Amino acid sequence: MPYNIIATAEADHGHQARRAFCQTLASVPHLPKVILPTGSSPAPFYQSLRDHPSIPSFSYLQLDEYLGLDVRDKRLFSKWLDRDVLNPLNIQNRMIFNSAANPDDEVRRILAWYKQHGAADMAVIGIGLNGHIGFNEPGSSFDSRARVVTLTPETIAANQSYWNGGKVPTRAITLGIADLKEVEHTILLVRGAAKAEILYRALHGPVTPEVPASYLQQQRNLIIVADRPALAMMP
Ligand code: GLP
Repeated sequence: MPYNIIATAEADHGHQARRAFCQTLASVPHLPKVILPTGSSPAPFYQSLRDHPSIPSFSYLQLDEYLGLDVRDKRLFSKWLDRDVLNPLNIQNRMIFNSAANPDDEVRRILAWYKQHGAADMAVIGIGLNGHIGFNEPGSSFDSRARVVTLTPETIAANQSYWNGGKVPTRAITLGIADLKEVEHTILLVRGAAKAEILYRALHGPVTPEVPASYLQQQRNLIIVADRPALAMMP
């Protein structure tokens, strides 16, 4: 599938991501259902949204969440999104995962929700150093749906910086690759030289569950907003 790459200067990344996001939002004829990620990748994008909060409204759908935390824990991804985007933009409709619920019941609830409401209209995603999307680690089937996953040591190490030295949970709930494949519009945000190799492998290597992000090669309506260091290996 052809995709659009928006190559940005580091300083302009958030602004360009917001432009692509708003244009895509405007193309959806109803209240868009939008998946948003956590991580360092979307930070400038969220900053730009906070700087210009008057944008069309949308419903937020959670991408992934640690398991086993109290619902008030500030380290929950859902709280992170509340602080960075949803409260500043006054987004009221939020489909979030309950970290404290029985995991199997929670997965059943999420699957039932998607059966009733259908796929998201847009997914904004980041890519992990090992090619993970959300918490779909290498080996995740492209047919996978929302489910409980065990995090790899690499991902636990990558997430350590969000935990102030605390112990990163080892289990999480994530939407599956099949949930992401059904989405009409996808925006991939990539920043920094450390992501250059995995971005290249995702887009130009074999399409394989060993690189979960390689599903993007077959994805319709894909926009990649990447700064120049992240694009260093691209042809
Ligand atoms: C995290 C999150 C993902 C995120 C990815 C990349 O573990 N579960 O949703 O996209 O890894 O994170 P970062 O943007 O900090 O590199």
